Amino acid sequence: MTTDHLDHQTRAVFDNIHIEQANNPVILNRVRRLITADQLGVPADYFKSRICGDLGCGSAVPGTANLLDLGAKYVHAMDVNNSFTATATRVLESEQGFQGRWQLDVGTLAALPYKDDFFDFVLCQGVVHSVDDDRKALSEIARVLKKGGLANIAVLGSGGLMTRIVMDAMRDEYRTNDAFKALVDREMTPEWIKQQIDWLIPQIDDDGSASYRQCITLLESLRNLLEQDFILTVRDRMQAPIYRTYGYEEMAGLLGEAGFSSWRRVARKPTYRNVRKILAPLYHHYDSPLAKLMYGDGALILVAAK
Ligand SMILES: C[S@@+](CC[C@H](N)C(=O)[O-])C[C@H]1O[C@@H](n2cnc3c(N)ncnc32)[C@H](O)[C@@H]1O
Repeated sequence: MTTDHLDHQTRAVFDNIHIEQANNPVILNRVRRLITADQLGVPADYFKSRICGDLGCGSAVPGTANLLDLGAKYVHAMDVNNSFTATATRVLESEQGFQGRWQLDVGTLAALPYKDDFFDFVLCQGVVHSVDDDRKALSEIARVLKKGGLANIAVLGSGGLMTRIVMDAMRDEYRTNDAFKALVDREMTPEWIKQQIDWLIPQIDDDGSASYRQCITLLESLRNLLEQDFILTVRDRMQAPIYRTYGYEEMAGLLGEAGFSSWRRVARKPTYRNVRKILAPLYHHYDSPLAKLMYGDGALILVAAK
């Protein structure tokens, strides 16, 4: 597969996911509040005078909206072809306060359409692990960043039980088992999940025990906790043609090679309304023994300075 073909294939996968995100206010609200000045370690008014890039912005442009909410002076939202522009325009035009502060650009991390030293701040979330040449992508981000500028780069960390089950076993199953692929691509809806639970509950032997009642309570909770946001996350993890994972040291090495002078890891605790609420503390406390066991190097979010 050529790099160009890969980029467009990845875009098509994510366009479908992002359109559903953009049409669901609860999901959109979650994904557009992931970065804060506090977490970045910058003053609250940091973004006021900053030219920002949201590179690999996606159709729902959550990062762009996040930066504009934080007061960014101007944001260039870029993705690989113009499939993202209709949805992105609708999302950004719906906010009066964003008027005149953003533009949509088409381009690739393989050769960014910006001059050297162009941005004060670059956001690149969930993109580098899916491109053909991650080294080139990181050196392009460093190239377009001004000296002293910051880049917030988020990729998936490697290792851990949950990560290996999802990224190795389930991705392998998706590629080799047509029934699982059809489920992920089309059949798995919140209604489908409810139907499976409704079928399962009466099959469980009622022995009158506390454990029976607790199991039923758990399944009844999962009826609501495996909702659309959860299903879109499963699609994201399964459908992306390439989904690399990185160790912290590996990523740090790549940032150094790309031309960044320093970096530090930051933590997030997204506000889920589904079963991932249980997992959010592990994303935040990524060094805790339970988080290491489940997620290895965890969600790697690095703030790198040029
Ligand atoms: C998981 S989505 C992330 C979207 C957004 N950054 C967010 O945080 O929700 C990955 C995005 O990267 C884009 N992408 C894939 N390859 C790219 C490349 N080579 N250059 C720029 N963007 C790319 C895809 O089209 C897709 O919209």
